[in-house]
Amino acid sequence: MSLEQALNDQERLAQLDRAQLEQLVGLVEYDASGDPFPVSGWDALVWAVGNATQTAHFYQSALGMELVAYSGPETGNRDHLAYVLESGAARFVVTGAYDPSSPLADHHRRHGDGIVDIALSVPDVDRCIAHAAGQGATVLEQPRDLSDEHGTVRLAAIAAYGDTRHTLVDRSRYTGPYLPGYVARRSTHVKRDGAPRRLFQAVDHVVGNVELGAMDRWVDFYNRVMGFTNMAEFVGEDIATEYSALMSKVVANGNHRVKFPLNEPATGKKKSQIDEYLEFYGGPGAQHVALATNDILTTVDALRGEGVEFLATPASYYEDAELRARIGEVRAPIEELQARGVLVDRDEDGYLLQIFTKPIGDRPTVFFELIERHGSLGFGIGNFKALFEAIEREQEKRGNF
Ligand SMILES: [Fe+2]
Repeated sequence: MSLEQALNDQERLAQLDRAQLEQLVGLVEYDASGDPFPVSGWDALVWAVGNATQTAHFYQSALGMELVAYSGPETGNRDHLAYVLESGAARFVVTGAYDPSSPLADHHRRHGDGIVDIALSVPDVDRCIAHAAGQGATVLEQPRDLSDEHGTVRLAAIAAYGDTRHTLVDRSRYTGPYLPGYVARRSTHVKRDGAPRRLFQAVDHVVGNVELGAMDRWVDFYNRVMGFTNMAEFVGEDIATEYSALMSKVVANGNHRVKFPLNEPATGKKKSQIDEYLEFYGGPGAQHVALATNDILTTVDALRGEGVEFLATPASYYEDAELRARIGEVRAPIEELQARGVLVDRDEDGYLLQIFTKPIGDRPTVFFELIERHGSLGFGIGNFKALFEAIEREQEKRGNF
């Protein structure tokens, strides 16, 4: 695979290069020829929200994303409004029903704000669907073409955990801003003077929460149906605090752009954060989206400046001698990390910096992670305990612990 082919259009437009992507999201070389379900990367994360107009504003003002396309009554959409937002190679689509009989309105009533569709970019939609159907996957939409004056997009969809779906998208013959039915639209939001050009460059991973006992079934689904492989950080043991526990395993597509950690609750003394999610989301769903940044300190400062709240990290986290020894030398002084609550984890390949927001909607469900990788291809397993204890303090405040 040539260097050019290794990058998708979004990444080229965002002026990312191969070396940056290797660093940012742990991109690896792989041979797609033997892959039964080749996936080249993320296409979009599609959100169902209660108010797409205001959510789109939040993503522009707080997360620094650019509005690029729109669909609504003016474009002939009689069902919902949709705003397409980008930051580097990351694309979000926020959708909100305005027709009360819209299926989106039902979805939102059941689940609250959340991700309905983790859309993936694939070079051959038909090949993927044929393989998925042969493996017993639920095909929600058979392959079809959508066309307008900008060309043709081929897409299909399969069911994932809960009410989440994977739309498979081949936009190689399309030059429009998103999909047929959408028109180009620019942000009216004006960035503050001196604001960074963007606050994150790509989506790194999306975590799914599934019911007790279902994690291995979904790992098997991604292995068998979608050709994903298990990543090195594939831990079956409970990740436990004194009170609650969960299990987590990670699958990834061939080039590692798309990484799906899958969590299930484990039995503990109190209600696990995964149980709280499942209760309030109304079943399995996407728990958090990790956004890859090359400067987590600046990004955290910018988000905090816009009022985004992060989980607090206890001072003991930074003062713990064992932890400090394990962290070793990182690119910023520990004091800078501590001032912002940024966590560090290290493995044999390098280290990563990460931080987690509080839930972004009304329900205690979906939230964001910011991640800055320096060689580590992990997910911060060394931080799970410190992090879960911080989450438990928040659960306690909500009376859900
Ligand atoms: Fe994560």
